[in-house]
Amino acid sequence: MLEEVVATRYVTPLREGGSLPGIVEADDLGTYVMKFTGAGQGRKTLVAEVVCGRLARELGLRVPDLVGMWLDPVIGLGEPDEEVQELLKASGGLNLGMDYLPGSLGFDALAYRVDAVESGRIVWFDALVGNVDRSWRNPNLLVWHGDLWLIDHGASLIWHHNWPTAAAAATRPHDASDHALAPFGPDVSAAASELAPRVTRDLIASCVADVPDVWLVDEPGFGGPDEVRSAYVDVLASRAEGLHDRITVGTPGTDGPSRAPGWLTGRPEAAR
Ligand SMILES: Nc1ncnc2c1ncn2[C@@H]1O[C@H](COP(=O)(O)OP(=O)(O)O)[C@@H](O)[C@H]1O
Ligand SMILES: [Mg+2]
Repeated sequence: MLEEVVATRYVTPLREGGSLPGIVEADDLGTYVMKFTGAGQGRKTLVAEVVCGRLARELGLRVPDLVGMWLDPVIGLGEPDEEVQELLKASGGLNLGMDYLPGSLGFDALAYRVDAVESGRIVWFDALVGNVDRSWRNPNLLVWHGDLWLIDHGASLIWHHNWPTAAAAATRPHDASDHALAPFGPDVSAAASELAPRVTRDLIASCVADVPDVWLVDEPGFGGPDEVRSAYVDVLASRAEGLHDRITVGTPGTDGPSRAPGWLTGRPEAAR
């Protein structure tokens, strides 16, 4: 189960992405990036954050701690921004908090080097969860104390928006040409050998178990939260099998990122 905290103060909205998360303080004196059930795609975004965040961590990737965050919309009464007011009003109850990484920087391929092993693991993981939201345009990666941290998995597991097509999604190819780490020569094959055997049904089930029931109830076609949970396990377990053969890492198009110079990546230009 996710640890739960109570939101005590809305500090400021984060406007870089689309879903208007906010920096919010909680009763454990922690500061969190709060993602709201009342935003855009609603609670499924939060389900994706929990399932992917937990899974990534189990596979050794860095994702800030996640908590359930209780919100009484009254804390937003003094908020001057109407859009924020509406979002808070629509999000009373349990929301998601991600530990705020103070002083972190957005990933910049020209300033930060990622090796083939780490980039391979991240590209393989993103293919597993169908994350197309880690492109060079919008990397959703932070650099904090010299390490790379993964954020924003809300647009992953896209198939859970249309369950009847979910089984087919398990074998869908994944084009990672646009991935923020594609220019670093990701060793997807090594990542697949290392990570695929670890993505067992038990491991996925333990991650999905952390999704609060309130985000899984009343899902059309399912008898209850546990049935929905096992559907996530089915899709992810079958997607992990043979995934490597379905990943393409081409080169970005002409509007792609400028390549990191050789003195940064340690590899000759031609090898990238
Ligand atoms: N845990 C975090 N610590 C510090 N900054 C964060 C954290 N999570 C998100 N941010 C910042 O907030 C922005 C928006 O968050 P994100 O999760 O990408 O939401 P979305 O893109 O859906 O709006 C990020 O691009 C990043 O700059
Ligand atoms: Mg984002």
